[in-house]
Amino acid sequence: MTEQQFIPQVYTKDITEGTVSWESPSNIALIKYWGKKKDQIPENPSISFTLNACKTTTVLSYSKKETTSDFDFKVYLDGEHKPDFQPKIKTFFERVLVYLPFLKDYAFKIETSNTFPHSSGIASSASGMSALALCLMSLEQQLQPGMTSEFFNQKASFLSRLGSGSACRSIEGDLIVWGENETVEGSSDLFGVKYPYAVHENFKNYQDTILLVDKGEKQVSSTVGHNLMHGHPFAAQRFAQAHENLASLKPILESGDLDAFIALIESEALTLHAMMMTSMPYFILMKPNTLEVINKIWAFRKETGLHIGFTLDAGANVHVLYPKSEAEVILKFIKTELASHCQNRQFICDEIGFGANQLIINKD
Ligand code: DP6
Repeated sequence: MTEQQFIPQVYTKDITEGTVSWESPSNIALIKYWGKKKDQIPENPSISFTLNACKTTTVLSYSKKETTSDFDFKVYLDGEHKPDFQPKIKTFFERVLVYLPFLKDYAFKIETSNTFPHSSGIASSASGMSALALCLMSLEQQLQPGMTSEFFNQKASFLSRLGSGSACRSIEGDLIVWGENETVEGSSDLFGVKYPYAVHENFKNYQDTILLVDKGEKQVSSTVGHNLMHGHPFAAQRFAQAHENLASLKPILESGDLDAFIALIESEALTLHAMMMTSMPYFILMKPNTLEVINKIWAFRKETGLHIGFTLDAGANVHVLYPKSEAEVILKFIKTELASHCQNRQFICDEIGFGANQLIINKD
């Protein structure tokens, strides 16, 4: 597959107006994407669990315009007009115009809402960008009927990637690989693919409880962080390590070795933050409570032998990962011991999910 294959031929249908809607989930990386080349090409492969509860719902309404001079769209969050979202969507439209040449032909209304609280520190770019990309694909599908669902998903992931790298891993589930790696057949830098090998029962219904340690705006955005990997003294080793870790994960996922799984994902999370701390300029996104939580997780694991582990995204929140079979005791521990380290004692119970869903629009 090359980018060329996502440039459409002439559309066969003429659509004047309509509405489509998708809900698309967030995802949590186990092996992290951190560092990118031009056009949102990742420096290394990543793999993630698709989430289930944390998602964005987007309703896209479109009507054909008289002129096609420029983009015409308005964005709403929870019913409120959001002009400050405009630049990000405009950049996205510019990037994908060659693949969706109808974009300047329509006036769009983009209405979006998230299941997770606003400014919870949970990035909405993965779920938000993928939901928008899927809506645009639904319009393209009407303009060019007959595309396969495989192509639909692949192009939706490809477009999502151009909006936000990690968004390309939100279209499907339950484990998605993005970035070429020689041990994963079919893996691509252009879009996410379903992890194609055997996965042990232990990883089915895996739980992710997201501790909202810090709900504030991050001091350093992911985009800036990715860029700081250019010229980073440990970049080459880190990118090589991600390839190796993906290869090591394969026998772990197959055998269900939870101890090895935890060791690998915790190391990945701390490596991600180590890259931030060793960038120039350097920065720290963890907060004191992030470390408190990590230490408590380690002590509890040692004491009980339960398979509780953590990962981090580019922020202070902690994703507590554990198998469903141990959920009762671990959730009790989270409530009694970890919730006090969260802002307003807030945490979100999520688990592995299976990707985005199209929603039926009620015409009334
Ligand atoms: C730490 O996908 O948010 O969550 O491509 O610039 O939009 P952009 O970055 P983004 O980066 C996510 C980084 C991460 C790791 C990961 O999800 O793999």
